[in-house]
Amino acid sequence: MTHKMGIIGFGGMGSFHYKKLLKGQEIVATGVWDIKEERREYARSFGLHIYESLEDLLADESIEIVLIATPNDVHHTIAIQALEAGKHVICEKPVTLNAKLLTEMLEAADKAGKLLTVHQNRRWDRGYRIVHQILGEGILGDVYRIESRVHGAHGIPGDWRQDPKQGGGMVYDWGIHLLDQAVMLFPDAKIRSVYATLNHVTNEQTDDGFFIDLTFDNGIHYTVEVGTSHFIPLPRWMVMGQDGTMLLDNWGLEGKIVCAHGEDDKDVVPVVTAAGLTKTMAPRREDTIKTLDIPDIWPDIGEYYRNITACLEGEATPIVTHDQMRRVMRLIEAVFASARTGEVIRFEIPLES
Ligand SMILES: NC(=O)c1ccc[n+]([C@@H]2O[C@H](COP(=O)([O-])OP(=O)(O)OC[C@H]3O[C@@H](n4cnc5c(N)ncnc54)[C@H](O)[C@@H]3O)[C@@H](O)[C@H]2O)c1
Repeated sequence: MTHKMGIIGFGGMGSFHYKKLLKGQEIVATGVWDIKEERREYARSFGLHIYESLEDLLADESIEIVLIATPNDVHHTIAIQALEAGKHVICEKPVTLNAKLLTEMLEAADKAGKLLTVHQNRRWDRGYRIVHQILGEGILGDVYRIESRVHGAHGIPGDWRQDPKQGGGMVYDWGIHLLDQAVMLFPDAKIRSVYATLNHVTNEQTDDGFFIDLTFDNGIHYTVEVGTSHFIPLPRWMVMGQDGTMLLDNWGLEGKIVCAHGEDDKDVVPVVTAAGLTKTMAPRREDTIKTLDIPDIWPDIGEYYRNITACLEGEATPIVTHDQMRRVMRLIEAVFASARTGEVIRFEIPLES
């Protein structure tokens, strides 16, 4: 059975859904509303129906589901309007700007009895899935630290992403993906504390990068970092365990896993480093380590829309749940609170425990 979709906002991401993510799916985009004439023209060039207004799209009874791919600040009002008009809603990330607005959206979805979910597509990133698998296999021993980074050198894009009123900034843009991945790696662990600093390298008004340190109650320290003025990017992922280390560079396509093998060298020979001598930092002897292949995993993002189709047909529940949306939105609020006050925010565990 096919399900008709209306796309609201046919910019970079709205058109990407149409051209790539919906290909071969049973959800078919048939029409578009965008406030910009040039984007409406672009949509028309694919043979899509162009509505006169948002209200016009929402009044079309053949449209069962809408995708909201506008700048972040208007997700909230458009989603509520669409739900009240009886549409299911997929919202681009971040679903909205704070927990209060999200609560209003979720209440509107409950009242309408319609689906409201968010496009957390980076749960299908190859690197994230590799980390997930390696943690599950336990081959690094007790993992004590994870670092998840995205570094570019173009500065923050010069469109609405630079405007705080429109929900600009890198915390909302990339932070939401990387924090969602962090909590999805440890769904049963609580986050003890959040510490964050924001960068303003290229402009004063919005964060163009950030550093976030999370501590989980399972003992894991988790760093999330985004930079837009990094001319030498650091690895996309580092996972450190008692018995091994994994590095994934360049979106997880290259990397290595090095693990302890057999007995450590009892008689480490000191090495000369810079102006000194060290035994502690001497490299391990080759026969006391082994290098493993990165798992051959190729996630299929097509699962996202197949799940939504199954939801529309009453055969599944959404992969991205309301509770997960709430948790990440509260985490984003803690990030901003820490960056504003310079303090460590106690998150899901009270101070005394
Ligand atoms: N999931 C991902 O990987 C991913 C990647 C990029 C962007 N996004 C998200 O997608 C959304 C759009 O980002 P983008 O990069 O496509 O931005 P964009 O600027 O390329 O496109 C936004 C479009 O929305 C239109 N628009 C603005 N206000 C509108 C309104 N009130 N009603 C209808 N149309 C309106 C604009 O004219 C524009 O065409 C954002 O929420 C962003 O965070 C997600």
